[in-house]
Amino acid sequence: MLRFIFRQGRSVIKRWRHALFWFDCRAGRVRKEGRLLLNVPLKCDGDGRVSLGANVSIGFVPAPMLADGRVRLQARGSDARVTVGAGTAFSNNVQVIAENSVTIGRQCLIGDAVLILDSDFHNLSAAGRHSMPGAVAAVVIEDNVFIGSRTIVLKGVTIGKDSVIGAGSVVVRSIPPGVVAAGNPARVIRTL
Ligand SMILES: CC(C)(COP(=O)(O)OP(=O)(O)OC[C@H]1O[C@@H](n2cnc3c(N)ncnc32)[C@H](O)[C@@H]1OP(=O)(O)O)[C@@H](O)C(=O)NCCC(=O)NCCS
Repeated sequence: MLRFIFRQGRSVIKRWRHALFWFDCRAGRVRKEGRLLLNVPLKCDGDGRVSLGANVSIGFVPAPMLADGRVRLQARGSDARVTVGAGTAFSNNVQVIAENSVTIGRQCLIGDAVLILDSDFHNLSAAGRHSMPGAVAAVVIEDNVFIGSRTIVLKGVTIGKDSVIGAGSVVVRSIPPGVVAAGNPARVIRTL
């Protein structure tokens, strides 16, 4: 009996927590294809579209930051897209900001505090950087890529299928499939 009450209580808490965490996503702009596992709050903002495949998981309790801090997926402009494939897992405090497009494949592992940006957001010219737009180029992270903690992935980068990016890397050029790459700027250190 006690076990039954405990189980029911836990399931109610889970449902409430899910509702609360999901609450911060813009209505009508987020397409969810199946079950979403929420261990930290998820914020989906911007005027574009965020698409989440089935069984995407957000936050990881034993990882650094103890499931603290939210994951943010922002499709900033009205044409912007953030797409996440089925089974991809985000650790805590990940931020993805797309002015144009960030595509993350299936079964990827995205480490804690990873930052993925498809834009410079500010023009580089001294006169224009407060008023003119920055360069924008789509980011593609192919299936089954593992990105280590605190990595930064910048505009125009494709990370090839199955590759691993070492913790703390800054990825400014595309990385081929099936390799380990690391450092600032990230370079291939070996093949898998
Ligand atoms: C990239 C990684 C997978 C490499 O592991 P490995 O294949 O065992 O590599 P090694 O430790 O043998 O290192 C190989 C070389 O790469 C360098 N290297 C390894 N990791 C690096 C990193 N993160 N940044 C820069 N260089 C790195 C090493 O210094 C070494 O260089 P050397 O040959 O000149 O001495 C590992 O170091 C790493 O960063 N793991 C990610 C952990 C993580 O963030 N997990 C996510 C938690 S959610």
